[in-house]
Amino acid sequence: MNAPSYALVTGASKGLGKFFARALAARKQSLVLVARGQAKLAALAAALRAAHAIQVEPLAFDLTAPAAGQRLAAELRARELRIDLLINNAGFGLRGEFWKLSLAEQLNMIQLHNAAAVELTYELLPAMIEAQTGGIINVSSMAGFQPVPYAALYSATKSFLTTFSMALREELRPVGVKVVTVCPGRLRADPDESQAGRQKVPGGEQGHAEVVAETLRKFDAGGGLVIPGRRNRWMNFGQRLLPPNAVPKIVAKKSKP
Ligand SMILES: NC(=O)c1ccc[n+]([C@@H]2O[C@H](COP(=O)([O-])OP(=O)(O)OC[C@H]3O[C@@H](n4cnc5c(N)ncnc54)[C@H](OP(=O)(O)O)[C@@H]3O)[C@@H](O)[C@H]2O)c1
Repeated sequence: MNAPSYALVTGASKGLGKFFARALAARKQSLVLVARGQAKLAALAAALRAAHAIQVEPLAFDLTAPAAGQRLAAELRARELRIDLLINNAGFGLRGEFWKLSLAEQLNMIQLHNAAAVELTYELLPAMIEAQTGGIINVSSMAGFQPVPYAALYSATKSFLTTFSMALREELRPVGVKVVTVCPGRLRADPDESQAGRQKVPGGEQGHAEVVAETLRKFDAGGGLVIPGRRNRWMNFGQRLLPPNAVPKIVAKKSKP
């Protein structure tokens, strides 16, 4: 019997990553689940194994550490876990004036959203290209479509990820490897998590399950950009009609903490 191929989901222990893990498990897809906290990963892995009779490997890993993506890829090779779907989802937001926020935390954000995603992509792509199958889903954000004052680094890392991911899609299209770039707006609170410290942000909220379903539909259809929700698609279209200098001014009024 052939060894199973796995989908690797970063940031799988809660929020969108957990919903990706559940949706893929329901498709009988074996999984490698990555986050820092071992306990939640192990509990999710046990639940998904029991419900779907699939292989699920929880791997506790801090992707903000230097070269973390390369070390994670080495660990996957050592365990002979073949990945044919990579979901770069792990992420976090920081709000406030750039110069008042911790520099170390902001650099961690670059490391997690950008360096780790690039490293994992670089390490795992060759096997997908050789097999002419599989793909990558990059979880970016609506915040990446314009500068967002008071989330300057967050929006910059998501702009990077969106640009990288959309360019990569065209490079990989001829070799049969799919790339989806998904740019959700504000997500609803994770129903399994405490809401202590959750910041209020203006605008509507999106359900995790709908975002995941729309993303997987796009993946099945061959890849591309997903802006989940009609409201977000209109906002993205509308702001392109405004003068570039007006956009950050308008966003600043809405995003000031
Ligand atoms: N929430 C939103 O409104 C929203 C909107 C648009 C886009 N997004 C994007 O969607 C993605 C998921 O967001 P979410 O709201 O679902 O996040 P979340 O609920 O806070 O979950 C984040 C996940 O990432 C993991 N993680 C955090 N830091 C990590 C690190 N250093 N190394 C490895 N894993 C790490 C967390 O587990 P541990 O803490 O155990 O490591 C957790 O599993 C992010 O990329 C985010 O930017 C979110």
